[in-house]
Parts: sequence; structure tokens; C-alpha cells
Amino acid sequence: MSGPVPVHTRRLRLEAVDPTRTDDLWQLHQDPGIAAWYGGTWTRDHAAARAATMAESWSADGIGKWIAYDKVTGELVGRGGASRTTIAGTEYVEIGWAVREAFWGRGYATEIGRATLSFVDEVLGVDEVAAYTEIHNRRSRAVMERLGMSFVGEVRATGLVEGKDGVHEDAPFALYSIRGRSAAPS
Ligand SMILES: CC(C)(COP(=O)(O)OP(=O)(O)OC[C@H]1O[C@@H](n2cnc3c(N)ncnc32)[C@H](O)[C@@H]1OP(=O)(O)O)[C@@H](O)C(=O)NCCC(=O)NCCS
Repeated sequence: MSGPVPVHTRRLRLEAVDPTRTDDLWQLHQDPGIAAWYGGTWTRDHAAARAATMAESWSADGIGKWIAYDKVTGELVGRGGASRTTIAGTEYVEIGWAVREAFWGRGYATEIGRATLSFVDEVLGVDEVAAYTEIHNRRSRAVMERLGMSFVGEVRATGLVEGKDGVHEDAPFALYSIRGRSAAPS
């Protein structure tokens, strides 16, 4: 059976993650700008496990995470997409992104985020989509704001704490959401 078809945005080709994308997923998570926000680089085994989980999300929910490639050159740019996630005890359709540091400042995360909102609206038609990140991840919060998402409040999750080493189970996160068909800006 064939998997989800690629989604094309203005500059990117978005390919659903399945086990065949493990190497690219691993490669992305060797990037220092990404590793800094994920508690370090991923091992190949971890990338393989994550790729398998992402593939399950695509088959179970019809939504999931993509790897983003430059549409013209095929270069690996980043990743993003949507998944069903429990945040502070509540189940949400959550969107997210990560872009190689060399590509920051060019709007790629916003492009992935917009495509994700449209895709979720088309496939699920849900009326609320959430995103969350460590409270001090200003670049990711700025993406949420550019997508028209609103700050809902602070929640606790496993992640980084500003000024402290390592990953903490009760790190402060900023939760954002967007509702209704406005969740799919054109
Ligand atoms: C979070 C992350 C994806 C944000 O990347 P980013 O490059 O800052 O975000 P965008 O791709 O939306 O680019 C926005 C920047 O490009 C500029 N830009 C240029 N063209 C643009 C366009 N067409 N559309 C939007 N912004 C554009 C914006 O002005 C903005 O510039 P600024 O950084 O000077 O404010 C990136 O920092 C990252 O991968 N971090 C590590 C992983 C991570 O934290 N992921 C989030 C976990 S929740």
C-alpha cells in the first residue's frame, strides 16, 4: 500500500516520515541549532524509533510529521507537521517544526506551519489546533504568532529550563492555539 502523497509548498516538498526517512531524521537531529532544543543529538536508534512512531501516526490518524526538502535542490531543510498529543492532560492536535540552523530566518518554519494548518483542516476539520514550546524558545513562539495562533497560557512538560542544564520533567512551556477555519490561513 502506498503512503501519504507529498505536499508541495512554495519552496518545499514535504514527505511523510516513515522508516525509510530514518537517516534524514537522524541527520536533522545532528544539527547544532536543533540539538540545542532537543536535549542533544539523537542516536540512530532513537531516530529509527521516532520514525516508526511517526509512521504509526500517519496510518492511525491520517496526519503526521513530514521531512521538508528544498523543492528544487532536494536539500534537507527541516521537519514539521501535526500529531495527536496530550499536553498537560488534554488531548490536542498539535503542530510543530524544526529547521536546520543554516536555514533559519527565511520563513521555512512558517511555510511548514501554514501547510500543516491547511492539511489538518482538510483532513480532520478540527476546530482547534495547538502548538507548544519552552517558554524561552522565542523563535518557535514567533512562528506560532506569525501563523495567527494565540497564547493560551503556561503549561508544564518535559523540556529545557532557561539557565539550567539538561532536560526537566516540569519545564515551563507556552501553549498556543488557533480555532475554526481561521486555523488554515491561505
Ligand atoms: C523554531 C525554528 C523552526 C524557527 O525558525 P525561524 O527561521 O526563526 O522561523 P521561520 O522559518 O518562520 O523564519 C522567520 C524569520 O524569517 C523571516 N522571513 C523571511 N522570509 C519569510 C517568509 N516568507 N515568511 C515568514 N518569515 C520570513 C522572518 O522575518 C523571520 O526573521 P527573524 O528571525 O529575523 O525574525 C528554528 O529556530 C528551529 O528549528 N529551532 C530548533 C528546533 C525548535 O526549537 N523547534 C520548535 C520546537 S517546539
